[in-house]
Amino acid sequence: MTLRFLAHASFQIITDSGIKIVIDPWLDQNPLAPIKSKDISADYIILSHAHADHCADAVKIADQKSTFIAVAELASYFQEAGHHTHAMQIGGAFDFEFGRVKLVSAQHGSMTADGKYGGLAAGIVLTIDNITIYHMGDTGIFGDLKLIGDMHKIDYLLIPIGGNYTMDPEDAALAASWIKPRFAIPMHYNSFPLIKQDPARFADLCSTHGIKVKIMQPGELITL
Ligand code: NI
Ligand code: MN
Repeated sequence: MTLRFLAHASFQIITDSGIKIVIDPWLDQNPLAPIKSKDISADYIILSHAHADHCADAVKIADQKSTFIAVAELASYFQEAGHHTHAMQIGGAFDFEFGRVKLVSAQHGSMTADGKYGGLAAGIVLTIDNITIYHMGDTGIFGDLKLIGDMHKIDYLLIPIGGNYTMDPEDAALAASWIKPRFAIPMHYNSFPLIKQDPARFADLCSTHGIKVKIMQPGELITL
């Protein structure tokens, strides 16, 4: 499978059988995103929470066959707009045709751009072909991240480091030391001035904990 960092918290996964998954698409209004919504399609769109910098382009990417996966409150928002949805809730997991999705806690808010309550903000633990990717969504640091790390063998940790709305590099490096992924990939930084950070600083802090960091450039693709 391939994992492409689109920008900010947006990622695209294409499985070996060709199933296309997009997580938290926000591309068209993000100057750092080289790939725009018109350039991609998705069989599944997984959303961590309702904020515009995670959902803004979901409807643009979706076609009639796309399925939205999110907590029930956010799923129903897209269902009312006419989309296929699969509602879940924190702590629940489901085996989809491409692999397993489990939603886990994130400490963050969730409201849609037009002011609707989006339910609880979530992290997304995705297991495809025995590789586990944990997209943390937007979150501050909290103790149960240790539990999530103990319960799942994380290969790739997609972790916010931008500060202000989420963990900063210091908190993120500490959280990564608890979760112990094979690789940590920083996200949710530099898209706007409030979250300006140096990912190399996150990598340095992680190295003191023995955690390897892959800094991905927007548009960059890796084969897992
Ligand atoms: Ni947010
Ligand atoms: Mn965000």
